[in-house]
Amino acid sequence: MGFVYTAHMTVTCKESLWPRMLSALVVSVVIGAGLPMAARAGAQAPTPAPDPSDIADGMRLYQQKGDCQACHGWAGDGRKMDSQMPDGSNLRETRLDRARLIMTIKCGRPGTGMPAFDKFAYTDGRCYGMKQADLKSPMPDPPATLQQREIERVADFLFQKVVGKGPMDRAKCIEYWGSEVEACREFK
Ligand code: HEC
Repeated sequence: MGFVYTAHMTVTCKESLWPRMLSALVVSVVIGAGLPMAARAGAQAPTPAPDPSDIADGMRLYQQKGDCQACHGWAGDGRKMDSQMPDGSNLRETRLDRARLIMTIKCGRPGTGMPAFDKFAYTDGRCYGMKQADLKSPMPDPPATLQQREIERVADFLFQKVVGKGPMDRAKCIEYWGSEVEACREFK
């Protein structure tokens, strides 16, 4: 997970043994205390927590413009909303970090049902150094193309509400929708 990697980096940056052990100790104590993300990043430049309105934008883009939920389900758990669509993966369990997740949204995944949302994907080598002619099969069309900043909002939303959050349950459902909506009834 992200913070474990950060802890590792902190450790390898130090030179002598004592600061190493100390920083490892501090990091594990901080993690153990379950402090917010910013505190876990310690001395390294913390990624600022995304704005709640950015999360809401990302959620809307996920549900509507990008229609990610057609294939990945509203909860991102792979229970697709549209039975005609390919089986999207369970995003709650993805191991991708932010950069790779963003790359996957921009460039899709050649040879699978995952479309590329970047309008210029496979035109100029920005996607895995490949152009249209390098693809073995054409990419499926995305429901809509998304701007870089829209893709970042979707990523903010996913990391805040979906990735690594475990299976959806009643409490998470209410938190996810902001109120006890119809969709939460299936969770006892
Ligand atoms: C038409 C169906 C479809 C749509 C729409 C779609 N996806 Fe996918 N997505 C897939 C499929 C299928 C895969 C699995 C690819 C594979 O087999 O590796 C996938 C894989 C992914 C992965 C990689 C997960 C992993 O752990 O490897 C991410 C991230 C992802 N999708 C995010 C999104 C987001 C965000 C959107 C909306 C902006 C979206 N997808 C829209 C079908 C779709």
